[in-house]
Amino acid sequence: DASDIEKGTYPHYMLKEIDEQPLVIRRLIEKYRNEQGELAIDEEIVQAVNEADRLYIVACGTSYHAGLVGKQLMENWAKIPVEVHIASEFSYNMPLLSEKPLFIYISQSGETADSRAVLVRTKELGHKSLTITNVPGSTLSREADYTLLLHAGPEIAVASTKAYTAQIAVLAMLAAVAAKAKGMALDVDVTKELGIVANAMDTLCDAKHEMEQIAREYLATTRNCFFIGRAVDYYVVLEGALKLKEISYIQAEGFAGGELKHGTIALIENGTPVIALATQEHVNLSIRGNVKEVVARGANPCIISMKGLDMEDDRFVIPAVHPMLTPLASVVPLQLIAYYAALHRGCDVDKPRNLAKSVTVE
Ligand code: G6P
Repeated sequence: DASDIEKGTYPHYMLKEIDEQPLVIRRLIEKYRNEQGELAIDEEIVQAVNEADRLYIVACGTSYHAGLVGKQLMENWAKIPVEVHIASEFSYNMPLLSEKPLFIYISQSGETADSRAVLVRTKELGHKSLTITNVPGSTLSREADYTLLLHAGPEIAVASTKAYTAQIAVLAMLAAVAAKAKGMALDVDVTKELGIVANAMDTLCDAKHEMEQIAREYLATTRNCFFIGRAVDYYVVLEGALKLKEISYIQAEGFAGGELKHGTIALIENGTPVIALATQEHVNLSIRGNVKEVVARGANPCIISMKGLDMEDDRFVIPAVHPMLTPLASVVPLQLIAYYAALHRGCDVDKPRNLAKSVTVE
């Protein structure tokens, strides 16, 4: 509806779309529910997932980052092996495929040419496909065997925010339903946990002032910025870095905490901002060890942790959510930091230079 694509009182679509995330998660909980109130997804799709011996997630940009998180969810909950591929590489450098693959195309717009090229190819090979998209009737949706919708409403800002969290939520629900359909005992109530995530997102969206402060303090004049994380936090920092570079033009890179010492740490200078995520208990101490390593080289650290794992010097603590669903919460402060950094630096937040909302050329 038309009101969906108005900015209203918001200065930018990006900020409006960040704020819509709790609502989108709640909407998804409603949309993927049966009459008994249980989590439900089209049986044909669930069957296609469970018949596959391997899932191949193909996507670009932010959707690719959602796919990385999706791999963890599908492997941990549904116990199906998953590969995640960048579409533009897959077309020209196809991996050896398993016997019964299912291709999952993740695309906000459903129009990305690089992803479509892969879909055309895998269809020629006779493989089944599922598109996860925000746009009903989009090319990727029409051409794939199955579609799951993101129900995020139109996303106008070039930098994707609410589509990313919707993609992860849909993948989480798909993983849980697939596990259940196979008779596996999953000790997590995904609907309930997503409700907790939506509440956490509300709290995070209310922390704009803190995020503006962080952006001002760390990113007002810097040339570069590093993001580090381990386990699923690594995937989220890739997205945090992408958000920052897309709209603020600060050179930003996300790294796995343990990999820093194998090269990247050479780039740390006095005052280099390093944003670290710490939402995973099993790597909490090791990521903090990585922060110490960069601090010893002069870095200016900003640790964002999760309640229960927080320590004294943390700059910001996100509310506790299910450990497999932390990306849905931890990405919100990173989106807001990128937004305010771009704003302070006078950048065109919604329409960054050189970028297009949907890229329809290969
Ligand atoms: C463009 C946009 C990105 C987006 C990517 C994939 O490059 O600028 O924000 O992540 O395309 O788009 P899709 O619509 O396929 O998710």
